[in-house]
Amino acid sequence: MGKNTEEKWEYYEPPTSFINQANVTEDLREDTEYPECFERYADLLDWFEEYDEVLDASNPPFYKWFTGGKLNASYECIDRHLPEKKDKTALLWEGELGTTQRFSYQDLYYKVNSLAAMLQDEFGVEKGDIVTLHLPMIPALPLTMLALARLGVAHSEVFGGFSAEAVAHRMDDADSEILITADGYYRRGKLLNHKEKADKAVEAANIDVENVLIWRREDELHPNASFIEGQDVIVQEAIEDYYGEEVEPVEQDSEDPLFLMYTSGTTGKPKGCQHRTGGYLAYAAGTLHDVHDVKPSDTYWCMADIGWITGHTYIVYGPLALGTTSVMYEGTPDYPDKDRTWEIAEKYDVDTLNTSPTAIRMFMKWGKEWLADKDFDFKLLGTVGEPIQEEAWTWYYQNVGDGETPIIDKWWQTETGGNLVSTYPAVDKMKPGAAGKPLMGIEADVVDEETGKSVEPGEQGSIVLKKPWPGMLQTVYGNDERFISEYWESFSDTESNDMEDWIYEPEDEVRLEDDGYFRFLGRLDEVMNVAGHRLGTGELEDAITEVDEVAETAVASRDHPEKGEVPDAYVVLKEGVTGSEKLKDKVVSMVEEEIGPIARPANVYIVDDVPKTRSGKIMRRLLEQVSNDEPLGDTTTLRDPSIVEDIREQVHG
Ligand code: WTA
Repeated sequence: MGKNTEEKWEYYEPPTSFINQANVTEDLREDTEYPECFERYADLLDWFEEYDEVLDASNPPFYKWFTGGKLNASYECIDRHLPEKKDKTALLWEGELGTTQRFSYQDLYYKVNSLAAMLQDEFGVEKGDIVTLHLPMIPALPLTMLALARLGVAHSEVFGGFSAEAVAHRMDDADSEILITADGYYRRGKLLNHKEKADKAVEAANIDVENVLIWRREDELHPNASFIEGQDVIVQEAIEDYYGEEVEPVEQDSEDPLFLMYTSGTTGKPKGCQHRTGGYLAYAAGTLHDVHDVKPSDTYWCMADIGWITGHTYIVYGPLALGTTSVMYEGTPDYPDKDRTWEIAEKYDVDTLNTSPTAIRMFMKWGKEWLADKDFDFKLLGTVGEPIQEEAWTWYYQNVGDGETPIIDKWWQTETGGNLVSTYPAVDKMKPGAAGKPLMGIEADVVDEETGKSVEPGEQGSIVLKKPWPGMLQTVYGNDERFISEYWESFSDTESNDMEDWIYEPEDEVRLEDDGYFRFLGRLDEVMNVAGHRLGTGELEDAITEVDEVAETAVASRDHPEKGEVPDAYVVLKEGVTGSEKLKDKVVSMVEEEIGPIARPANVYIVDDVPKTRSGKIMRRLLEQVSNDEPLGDTTTLRDPSIVEDIREQVHG
């Protein structure tokens, strides 16, 4: 183990055995021509037609990548691997009950083609459409994504744990008339009825939903699942007529959208981040190759859900584009027991494990006994999605990595398509809790939030991205203005046509360390990170005010030892209504219904009023301080400072 101390921080070094086999052994950040450095990523793909230009920056912030290039994501992830490795395992699926499904690249080819043929011929799905998926972690999900990609159709997958309302909103926003779902999936040994969410979504959507396609989880339809004649179709039945059919992968322009992924912002409904085909796929493959050190011979397990961007990029598109073996697991890491993760790692001889700080904190709480008799041997470990505390990092390093396996802590977002800040595992020293430096071609800086000026090393501020990169979102679907106002307005000269004047703001707080490493501290806006799930406080508030008795509400984040953060709801009732436990339950149920159980408030406090500035802006930060029992910040701008004291009294007695 290479551990040494520089300044006050501890650094860790990768072992020679890792360095000797690594894909990347020099610092790619140096001597790189921008934007030509990204050609190396594009070269990892087989283009139908070569691109003319790496970057077209003539109309910022609407950048175009690899212009003129033609490709198809399904071809990149399947067909091109067939000549050399048709029998190699592409996907290894582990069901919660312990069943395995293994798909070779040839199997994927067969299944994806039949499915694409069915979607095209039976449902008239064609290039330009957007199809909504609400699929859990079953093989149907990547198969459907790839079949749609083959047809040049964008998919919009909604995380399986999200509610019917969440699905309906996304279908309306994207004008998406077809929903592909499943009848059920396993959670802690129980087959959940997932189809009922589709029924409610169809009802709640304003758009006319033409068809609901249902993947059956078992041989029979879930006993409680409805079947609506004329609307519902069982995929496994409809596809029978198409077995063995082949569909030419549709030639996509580099800039044609590959998918939408809705994500939360500060205000308003979730926005559809639109990702392009060429730039996104090249960036997914490139970062997986360079940062995750993935080789075709590897078995790579990213524990995220495919319903989030991490799963899109690092379970489906990245690993399959590189022709490796990607593992996906249906269930929870503690079913049937708390050693499930290590059992799967051993069973499939996983080389690289990529997980989240939330999961690591959970493993830590469960104790290292659960790993004791397991025979796994990782080459590389990953963490992603939230800031990781040094204690959790060190536990991961010592207990999962045996005190020598390198760890990569990758910072990025739904909008960025792939990793932007990390160490290169064979090149950079690791420093617990500090992700690393901006990757090749990524020009990031840390600026003062007020002035926009770069901060000095040792200070903290807002991370900004000063140049575009191929994985970035194209726009917010159907709303170019929102794209500009959400991401660019703060620090850009929005009148300018010069790329240099356009600065992208991810809304994350960073401490710029003396060695140039970025230590991520959390969101600067009203977005929460609950067990790695991104949620907007505004969204929760919208849901809570749907309760008839509620006049007003403010949601604040409370620190949580495992989940990182959880929402606390402060609720003001309408005149004449009295608070009760039943009413609090109603608030919780409404959040579950409108968003999903992951957004469930940890506490509901019924209060007389919420703190507001004189101009009427709710001061959520003060409530956050109340929730965390921290000293209160400045209350002088409040219309009525006594309100916070009353609330504090009520919460903490
Ligand atoms: C946070 C997930 C600290 C960050 C890929 C970001 C992180 C948000 C890290 C995006 C990390 C992600 N260290 N914080 N390594 N990675 N984040 O869109 O606040 O679900 O803005 O994408 O997660 O969440 P999203």
